[in-house]
Amino acid sequence: MRAFKLCTSVFAVFLATINTLSAKQQTDTPSEVNDGRQLFIANCAVCHGPDGDSVPGVDLGHGKFKRASSYDDLVEIISAGVPGTAMPAFSKVFEGKGECLNCHSVKNKGSRLGPDLAEIGAVRRMIELERSLLEPNAEILLQNRMVRLVTRDGITITGRLLNQDTFSVQLIDSKERLLSFQKSSLKEYAFVDKSPMPTYRDKLNPGELADLVSYLVSLKGIGGQ
Ligand code: HEC
Ligand code: HEC
Repeated sequence: MRAFKLCTSVFAVFLATINTLSAKQQTDTPSEVNDGRQLFIANCAVCHGPDGDSVPGVDLGHGKFKRASSYDDLVEIISAGVPGTAMPAFSKVFEGKGECLNCHSVKNKGSRLGPDLAEIGAVRRMIELERSLLEPNAEILLQNRMVRLVTRDGITITGRLLNQDTFSVQLIDSKERLLSFQKSSLKEYAFVDKSPMPTYRDKLNPGELADLVSYLVSLKGIGGQ
């Protein structure tokens, strides 16, 4: 019980440290602190210890770092790891096996077919991120919906809806072209129910999924555009 309490406070302090270092202040809700604690225990405590101070010279809970001097540095270290040390790169699954950059972007890297994920850790809870990966079709947010349209010339185009009004529609297609159509020039126009995003339930093992979610949670969109 004591250890449990300790961990909660350690991650709360860690988050607070990160937020203090960041230019853009954020207020973490208790559920975010809770998510953070779970992630910390699952992915970080094995090396950093439950108090965050097991790696010599590094005390995550008290903002004592060997290399990092800004929030950006922390995000970069968690993302890329520290080569030549045990600190792993948490973006490995995202950029490698998961092939997420085929459809998503982070800091101008990747594709714009799917929504940009540079701030995803600030706007979604851990449980929502996990669901996106395991059941992409369970909930598709209004702003992320895909549309399928057929022009009067019979050309079919599928893409992510960027904008629409009474008369026109703008979308981005799989080749990342920004397209705009007058609705009057279309024969068909409809939302697509299914997400083009595959489920990662069988593609990634639990360890890889946990790494991936840690990485997504760390993407809070602060600094370094
Ligand atoms: C397999 C062991 C291991 C795991 C797992 C691990 N780390 Fe590390 N981490 C290290 C080591 C070792 C260092 C020190 C690297 C060095 O010598 O600079 C480090 C360094 C860091 C630093 C840089 C501190 C500084 O001095 O600048 C941060 C921040 C950090 N880790 C955060 C995390 C977070 C957050 C997690 C979980 C999401 C995590 N680490 C998981 C081993 C690990
Ligand atoms: C084939 C393209 C494709 C691939 C590959 C893909 N995604 Fe997606 N993803 C999308 C599209 C399109 C959406 C928006 C529609 C939806 O919600 O499914 C989306 C939605 C998401 C969302 C929800 C966004 C929100 O605003 O809540 C997350 C999180 C996400 N993807 C993460 C990932 C990660 C992590 C990977 C790699 C493991 C990945 N995606 C791989 C196309 C893709």
